[in-house]
Amino acid sequence: MLRIALTKGRLEKEATALLARAGYDTAALADKGRRLILPVGDDIEVMLAKAPDVITYVIHGVCDMGIVGKDTIMEYGGSFYEVMDLGFGRCRFALAVPKGTDFYADYTGHRLASKYPNVTRDYFARKGMDVGIIKIEGSVELAPLLGLADGIIDIVETGNTLKENGLEAIEDVAALSARLIVNTAAMKLKNHDIEAFIENVSREVAL
Ligand code: PRP
Ligand code: MG
Repeated sequence: MLRIALTKGRLEKEATALLARAGYDTAALADKGRRLILPVGDDIEVMLAKAPDVITYVIHGVCDMGIVGKDTIMEYGGSFYEVMDLGFGRCRFALAVPKGTDFYADYTGHRLASKYPNVTRDYFARKGMDVGIIKIEGSVELAPLLGLADGIIDIVETGNTLKENGLEAIEDVAALSARLIVNTAAMKLKNHDIEAFIENVSREVAL
């Protein structure tokens, strides 16, 4: 039996479609109601979890594998194998500021709001800039509009949220997509089953 933690929400539909294309029976996943543990064929169980929890379950080995965004992997890290870019959930991390403002006009006192404080810290540390970081849980675009921050580091997909709120992306920070992660011990103990799963899925990944 292989247990896969799947990120609820945005990645769910495309992950289910990918599993179906790879030949797995996703009927239970497609009609799950409020259930959180779903059988996928006879040999796989899928757990639906919030993105950071996918990583927690995989690190602790209670799930053998996980499907999670690169954004969450960059923010939380941890000891596991990131084995495959699954080719969906494509978007990017960007630095965005209120349209027309000059973020680099002066070198002191920059405040950034983000749901990803570690990514934000790393990005500006690489630039040698000391910035203040305010952790926001969602709709982070509000922070610069309210004057709480000079800019944000956030996910941009279509760019509509930025545009409709008078913000603009001024730098790309990283390309993002859904990834398959594997628990390090499971990779050894269940190698045969995990390799077979990776092979079935990789045939259907459109990069
Ligand atoms: C995400 C992200 C951006 C937006 C990007 O937010 O944080 O705000 O989507 O998509 P776009 O470029 O296509 O407009 P989400 O709607 O997931 O909500 P949250 O930020 O409140 O978590
Ligand atoms: Mg948002």
